[in-house]
Amino acid sequence: MQIDLSNTSVLVTGASRGIGAAVARAMGNAGARVAIHYRDRREQASALAAQIGASAEVFQADLSRAEECTALWQAVVARFGRVSTLVNNAGVALSSALESATEDWLEGWDTTLAVNLRAPAILCRLAIGHFQTQGGGRIINISSRAAFRGDQPPYLAYAASKGGLVALTRSIARGFGKAGILAFNVAPGFTRTDMAQEFLDQYGEDYVAGDIALRRLTEPEDIAPFVVFLASGLGDHSTGCTIDVNAGSYVH
Ligand SMILES: NC(=O)c1ccc[n+]([C@@H]2O[C@H](COP(=O)([O-])OP(=O)(O)OC[C@H]3O[C@@H](n4cnc5c(N)ncnc54)[C@H](O)[C@@H]3O)[C@@H](O)[C@H]2O)c1
Repeated sequence: MQIDLSNTSVLVTGASRGIGAAVARAMGNAGARVAIHYRDRREQASALAAQIGASAEVFQADLSRAEECTALWQAVVARFGRVSTLVNNAGVALSSALESATEDWLEGWDTTLAVNLRAPAILCRLAIGHFQTQGGGRIINISSRAAFRGDQPPYLAYAASKGGLVALTRSIARGFGKAGILAFNVAPGFTRTDMAQEFLDQYGEDYVAGDIALRRLTEPEDIAPFVVFLASGLGDHSTGCTIDVNAGSYVH
């Protein structure tokens, strides 16, 4: 089945690299007009926009700052007129050991919650308001296996933020379905990106490979098709669901 997203427009946060870049590319290949959000890799974001084609555009924002989340949404709506799908992909996985100084540990929590949970919540709120004037729309939040399986002790904040994102998504799905607003989680397991590289360097590829049921590690391109599918409307009756893409490392 060929998915056709022409006449739709999509905002993908954190799209200059990793999973976000693969999602933006796949959306563009399916015909969507793509807003590529980035924080500080303008060159990479612009190169991706050029690859996708003339209709893609880049937008800058530091999503740890609430006012920049709002400004990002307003800028995209001002340029595109209408947004059909919001993909909250940007995220951080900060290591914050229990043994570290309290203020450092708290700083890790604050940044993690601001980027991984508060920013998606702000964008969801603005998207819901916009979708209500448009007859509907879709939200796809990139959560994590960590929300369900848990994570290592230095990543308590990360797991908690992703668990919060799952609950946020489910609540939106239940609260706004009648308004034509659908909300989904995609929960990757270990995926080969810059975010995962530190873990790979520390534990080695064999350790990670031993954790999964398949023969190779998950790549960003293994995640993107699910996001395109959900953006297409074909999955609307599973609103509120989470799609696990973790190579069989946590089956529940
Ligand atoms: N790689 C994995 O193993 C894995 C597993 C589960 C979930 N995820 C999730 O997938 C998503 C994408 O991660 P990735 O693996 O591609 O990592 P990545 O580090 O390559 O990409 C993260 C993106 O988020 C952006 N970002 C981070 N902080 C930001 C801020 N303050 N303001 C604006 N943008 C900011 C970065 O610029 C980057 O583009 C994240 O939400 C991550 O938690 C990744």
